[in-house]
Amino acid sequence: MNNLKASHIQEAAAYINSKIAIKPEVGLIMGSGLGILGDHIEEAVTIPYDEIPHFPLSTVEGHAGELMIGKLSGRPVVLMRGRFHLYEGYGPDLTAFPVRVMKAIGASKLVVTNAAGGVNTSYNPGDLMLISDHINFQGRNPLVGPNDKELGARFPDMSQPYSKRLRELARGVAAEQGFSLQEGVYIAVLGPSYETPAEIRMMRILGADAVGMSTVSEVIAASHSGMEVLGISCISNMASGILDQPLSHDEVMETTERVKTQFLGLVKGVISLL
Ligand code: 6GU
Repeated sequence: MNNLKASHIQEAAAYINSKIAIKPEVGLIMGSGLGILGDHIEEAVTIPYDEIPHFPLSTVEGHAGELMIGKLSGRPVVLMRGRFHLYEGYGPDLTAFPVRVMKAIGASKLVVTNAAGGVNTSYNPGDLMLISDHINFQGRNPLVGPNDKELGARFPDMSQPYSKRLRELARGVAAEQGFSLQEGVYIAVLGPSYETPAEIRMMRILGADAVGMSTVSEVIAASHSGMEVLGISCISNMASGILDQPLSHDEVMETTERVKTQFLGLVKGVISLL
């Protein structure tokens, strides 16, 4: 039995609704080190995850664990400050649960960001990549278990999980702000160990441009529930075997810190147009 039960979603949504006066239109999930977007939210109501019925708790460094509801670029948003990863031991239903709750309180669009390793050798650390598509290499799917027809179809279409319209919009915003965006395929693995060079060579042959450990279960749930999704990866480092150096989480955090202003400017610019 999975945890995408309508009653759990409704209980979490009811609790949040009892604390807020606005109806958020856009859900935001920010990757490692980017939760600072929350500091830009006006009239913010902050709700710690541990207060919300059925919500999981975040354990990874650099993630706080609270929901913020308020105005960003003048638009009503709900931001997840801290997200859930399968490598923390959560089931894929739990990693997707907050997306269901965001939808239940009004969000019809989802902007999801992450830090990812560059698999495409023409990428550089610090590049921002619009996710055009994904490869689910996590061996998990949040929709496994009984399907609630109220939430979405048993066998949902996945032919365009990442909105073309929103990608074009993001490209325009980046151009206006004076930088360009990569666009490519995100491959999600379970983690938490990084890949071997042989695994990265395989992923490149399979058509992946960036690799990470998040996003896919959230996007499958969002797509299932009919949300329009924009996904953006920050290429925080080159993946294993490309450069003659080991990978570290410190490098991931350092690069994210370096491009944070640009990344946040892009997200805010996009939201103003949604
Ligand atoms: Cl190289 N691999 C994975 N799986 N996740 C990452 C990464 C690499 N770089 C940032 N996140």
